[in-house]
Amino acid sequence: MTNEDYNDDHEDVAIDTGSNTEVALGKGLDLGTANIAAAVQNEDGGITVNVERNAFLEIGGDGHSKTMLTKLNVPYVVHNGRMIVLGESAFELANVFGKETRRPMSDGLISPDEVDALPIMKLIISKVLGEPAQPGENCYFSVPAESLDIDNNIVYHQGLFEGMVNKLGYTGKAINEAHAVVFAELAENDFTGIGLSFGGGMANACVAYKSIPCVQFSVARGGDWIDKNVANVLGIQRSRATFIKESGVDIRDPKNREEEAVAIYYANLINYVLQNIKSRFESGSNMPTFNEPIDIACAGGTSLVGGFIEVFRDEFAKIDFPIPVGRIFRAEDALTSVAKGCLVAAAIGD
Ligand SMILES: Nc1ncnc2c1ncn2[C@@H]1O[C@H](COP(=O)(O)OP(=O)(O)OP(=O)(O)O)[C@@H](O)[C@H]1O
Ligand SMILES: [Mg+2]
Repeated sequence: MTNEDYNDDHEDVAIDTGSNTEVALGKGLDLGTANIAAAVQNEDGGITVNVERNAFLEIGGDGHSKTMLTKLNVPYVVHNGRMIVLGESAFELANVFGKETRRPMSDGLISPDEVDALPIMKLIISKVLGEPAQPGENCYFSVPAESLDIDNNIVYHQGLFEGMVNKLGYTGKAINEAHAVVFAELAENDFTGIGLSFGGGMANACVAYKSIPCVQFSVARGGDWIDKNVANVLGIQRSRATFIKESGVDIRDPKNREEEAVAIYYANLINYVLQNIKSRFESGSNMPTFNEPIDIACAGGTSLVGGFIEVFRDEFAKIDFPIPVGRIFRAEDALTSVAKGCLVAAAIGD
């Protein structure tokens, strides 16, 4: 588990809930296909984020495996009589033994093909979230918006996790993942602007006016989609495609055929998201009028690739966007922005 401390830029928003406790109540939880992150306020008025990979590995229940795990100092849990390694440790162990980890979620939602998904996620979530500071403490958790391109069932996913978070002693409240990006990154703009989360399984978009979402959607294209397509067109393993993508490609300046493929799918993903915001905005009724230019904040692991914001600006310049736009930027910490935004929502929410 990485334990990351940093100062909150928007302390005025995040801290004062009017309670007398030293640390304000409320937690933020980002339930992602690739990573699960929990954000909590710390004593210094900053935010602490715990991140764990949303993955697991089952190890044979024999004495030999148990000895091996103990020797390698790998933490495991026993679940239904089976030994399970969770999160980052599962990922590392899988790499050592050339195995694939199992993943409880796919395309932004609880995986229908993974029978152990829910109990495993409960273990990972309780590890990153910890106990509530008081019974029924609010926990805002991220959910994707309905997808434009696949028929998915957000209602079921949201209901399952609300139940789970409640069972852990919290009061669970769902918030759209891109709406959380607005809360994390656009406080200075009075929570008006566009939040985008480019994750592993999905990309989510939210156009908000004074914190109220007026357009929200997701597309089933994210880092996994890029990996799958790059692997297909080049005839390589998907894990190899992920490795190339994450190891310092600059999508403005691809150096070889593999990097070229990564750059092509990135430009396509960004264009697709922008075109969909445009058409949703043009076809929707009761849209607010933005007289002043609004900012676009990008977050999520997929936005970490080199040249992402520059390519985003290029793609933006190519289309006739219906709203005046000012700054286009990436969150300072793209991987923890959603969890942080969930925490801000919990702090200023009801
Ligand atoms: N340096 C990097 N360059 C490019 N991509 C990266 C980098 N680091 C991580 N990624 C990609 O980011 C993705 C994971 O991002 P993130 O943790 O935001 O997703 P998630 O929130 O778990 O997923 P989702 O929101 O879709 O459910 C993966 O596809 C991973 O390959
Ligand atoms: Mg995400």
